[in-house]
Amino acid sequence: MTLVLGIVGHPLDHSVSVPMHMSAIFTLGIDYVYLSFDILPENLPHAIGQFKKENIKGFNVTIPYKETIMPYLDDIDERASRIGAVNTIDNENGRLKGYNTDGTGYLTSLREQTGFDPRGKRVLMIGAGGAAHAVAYALLEAGARHITIANRTREHAEVLCRHLGVYFPSASLQSTGMDTLDSEGRTQTDLVVNTTSIGMKGAGDIAMDFTGLDRHTVVSDIVYNPLETQFLKRALRAGLAIHDGAGMLVHQGAESFRLWTGIRPPVDVMRQAVLRALQEHH
Ligand code: ATR
Repeated sequence: MTLVLGIVGHPLDHSVSVPMHMSAIFTLGIDYVYLSFDILPENLPHAIGQFKKENIKGFNVTIPYKETIMPYLDDIDERASRIGAVNTIDNENGRLKGYNTDGTGYLTSLREQTGFDPRGKRVLMIGAGGAAHAVAYALLEAGARHITIANRTREHAEVLCRHLGVYFPSASLQSTGMDTLDSEGRTQTDLVVNTTSIGMKGAGDIAMDFTGLDRHTVVSDIVYNPLETQFLKRALRAGLAIHDGAGMLVHQGAESFRLWTGIRPPVDVMRQAVLRALQEHH
């Protein structure tokens, strides 16, 4: 019997996850299908009940349900529970268990594209939302020494710092507003990462000047549409190493795929499918 995987979110037009996972399924020749489930908020509880009833093998969760879906699950993996969000749900003998592969996917891709090792490093992170929680958690887990969290709403950055401090008491965590990015960047920064949606679909840029940054600083953006945001273009022009958002998408997906199927995913095939889909639809 064909096993069903998919993605749950709203809105969900042209999700890149569909071609990415289908390319892996075709390449491996396994009896799975990966579908897109665009579900309205008021239908979410019913949809989850149906998924259990129909024995859906697993699904990804995206905006706006990464946090709100958590109370409906039977079990939550420790990392996901500490991050406070799930992006992957696995049906384990009729029980739905939530995981988070966003942070580890980010880290794998950062290492792969730039060779960056977070151990002992200082990070300037822009944003304090769901993606920021996962990225900061992964960086601290991998040994980052300091993170400054800069956010439009400063209180959100403060809350995230306090939250992370519970799990990483020896890390140095600091919150600030978006107006101090320039001075923050100049205080010995090894990695600058944008975790907000600024720059998506070519809209907007982050008000940060790269001229004073140390030459070894890596500039990273989790936005993958376009692959080269204004933020990354400017970093390149300033001679800095960059890391784009496609790798995080691929590696979080690869990890989810392995969780559901137990099979090592064809990461390069998935990456090609993502790049093709981004060219076609975005
Ligand atoms: P996600 O789950 O994708 O991270 P989120 O939880 O809604 O989404 O978080 C979005 C993040 O992007 C937040 O840090 C948000 O800042 P606020 O906390 O001030 O809302 C930030 N963000 C989104 N749009 C922004 C904009 N136009 N300018 C500055 N920050 C923005």
